Amino acid sequence: MKDLTLIMAEELSAAFEKAGYDPAYALVRTSDRPDLCEFQCNGAMSAAKQYHKAPIAIAGEVAANCGEAASFFVEAVAPGFLNMNVKPAFLASYLSEMAASQGPDYPRVTEPKKIIIDYGGPNVAKPIHVGHLRSAVIGESLKRIAKAVGNEVLGDIHLGDWGLQIGLVITELRHRSPDLPYFREGVQEYPAEAPFTVIELGEIYPTASAKAKEDEAYREEALAATHDLQAGREGYRALWQKIMEVSVADLKKNYERLDVHFDLWKGESDAQKYIPAVIELLKEQGLARLDEGALIVDVALPTDKKELPPCIILKSDGASLYSTTDIATIKERMELFDPDEILYVVDKRQGMHFEQVFRVGRKAGIVKPETELNFAGFGTMNGPNGKPFKTKEGGVMRLESLLNEIEEEMAKKIRDNKNVRDEDAEKTAGQVALSAVKYGDLSNQPSKDYIFDTEKFTSFEGNTGPYILYTIVRIKSILEKMTKEDGEAAPKVLEPASGEEKELMLALTQFSQAVMSSYEELAPHKLCAYIFALSNSLNRFYHGTRILGEEDAARRRSYLTLLKLVKTALEKSIDLLGFSAPEHM
Ligand code: ARG
Repeated sequence: MKDLTLIMAEELSAAFEKAGYDPAYALVRTSDRPDLCEFQCNGAMSAAKQYHKAPIAIAGEVAANCGEAASFFVEAVAPGFLNMNVKPAFLASYLSEMAASQGPDYPRVTEPKKIIIDYGGPNVAKPIHVGHLRSAVIGESLKRIAKAVGNEVLGDIHLGDWGLQIGLVITELRHRSPDLPYFREGVQEYPAEAPFTVIELGEIYPTASAKAKEDEAYREEALAATHDLQAGREGYRALWQKIMEVSVADLKKNYERLDVHFDLWKGESDAQKYIPAVIELLKEQGLARLDEGALIVDVALPTDKKELPPCIILKSDGASLYSTTDIATIKERMELFDPDEILYVVDKRQGMHFEQVFRVGRKAGIVKPETELNFAGFGTMNGPNGKPFKTKEGGVMRLESLLNEIEEEMAKKIRDNKNVRDEDAEKTAGQVALSAVKYGDLSNQPSKDYIFDTEKFTSFEGNTGPYILYTIVRIKSILEKMTKEDGEAAPKVLEPASGEEKELMLALTQFSQAVMSSYEELAPHKLCAYIFALSNSLNRFYHGTRILGEEDAARRRSYLTLLKLVKTALEKSIDLLGFSAPEHM
């Protein structure tokens, strides 16, 4: 369906034309001053320059030519605004049509892109912690939104599966069980079973990491193990496979619980085979130079406001780095998928790293000029004290523990509700907890830091996920109680009978814009702000209106139709944000 503001703009542009002005000035948008009017057009202000006329004179002439407009009333006000209100009958027929067709919806892009979104980024063998939570939550939502509007999108987890953490685990295992076949020469076949469980793995890494900090020899050993693994030592490769199996199975469980799904489970290790070609290319093109034994590429530009250091490709000992892997990953992605865009959803503190990587990729022609490389950096999730989120004991909070905590909190609240059957309570608690965590994050502008406030996020009131779910459940329970005849009646929306009802109807027309701006600006928080406003409108309407008790059948059915539209808009929105609503709560 065409956006309401576009329909109004079309009618308004006819009036601009009739009055002798360029119709392109007839842009209509939701009003900045809802106390004065619902929509506005500032075109007369811009036209004033071209026509050397007072804006109010132009606005007056345009308004005088709007007599026949079916969709709005308009008033010209000083210094030259066109204040507009939608005609109630038009609004009613617009929503009737919406209800009779596909319901609240959004446009599809005219030129779909192939987009790879790099998000998640957990490190194999290390526990996933809250730092990875934001990437998963924001990335999943951006992926769902970009897909919904018609793009082809591939979400890639880009596992950290090739670094020192693997060397540390190998070293610790070697100290504990030197007799394992992985450490012997000439072994043909390795056992099918991993020599550790995921719980053991969760303990091995931190132990090894702590030892390496204190014991220089141990650290050297771990570095050597990492080197040998990367050089292809068979026993280590086999052991790495086991670490991957155990770790990835656990990661899948964690992401499943978050309702986060990747199309590609590739990682840093997959990019390694592209490194030699990248280095060859950089040397051939004369882009790389030696600096104290290290191979570096200059990426600074005279226009830079901040100094950008050269990108180190190889250390003096020949080892590749995080940047090398990311450049090679671009090459890999171009060869395998040839995307129109690669979008990285990573902590904003890695911004400089990506700027360097992007510039090397561009300079060397590893990425073709039409392919966009974008970085959506996010801020830190802080605890109530304003410092990075920690456990009560001050350690790194594991993602699993955080989710368990929130789920328990929700279960307590939900069990008190007799509408929820005991056997559903656990599933419902999981759903509501997820909404608390995800909405708590997504309702903030991604680039900003935010405070994770359990008390606030789990509340059924205020700007929270549970409040949105509660609103949906409220609508569901009304719809469950309606009569069969009401349920089957053809959808028809009547002119609003109250201010609250009109406000709700207007809010419904804004769904498509909310989705589009969250897509274009990589801003799920705009969709959150929209559903919060829509839920508030719904609840104000609900409190002031007898819905099922309304005796006039046409009016009652009109109310029910509105409720169904709101429910669809909310459900589609939360799906784009990455969570879902229960039946009862
Ligand atoms: N594994 C990295 C970390 O934990 C995040 C990976 C982000 N993606 C990338 N292409 N570098 O910090």
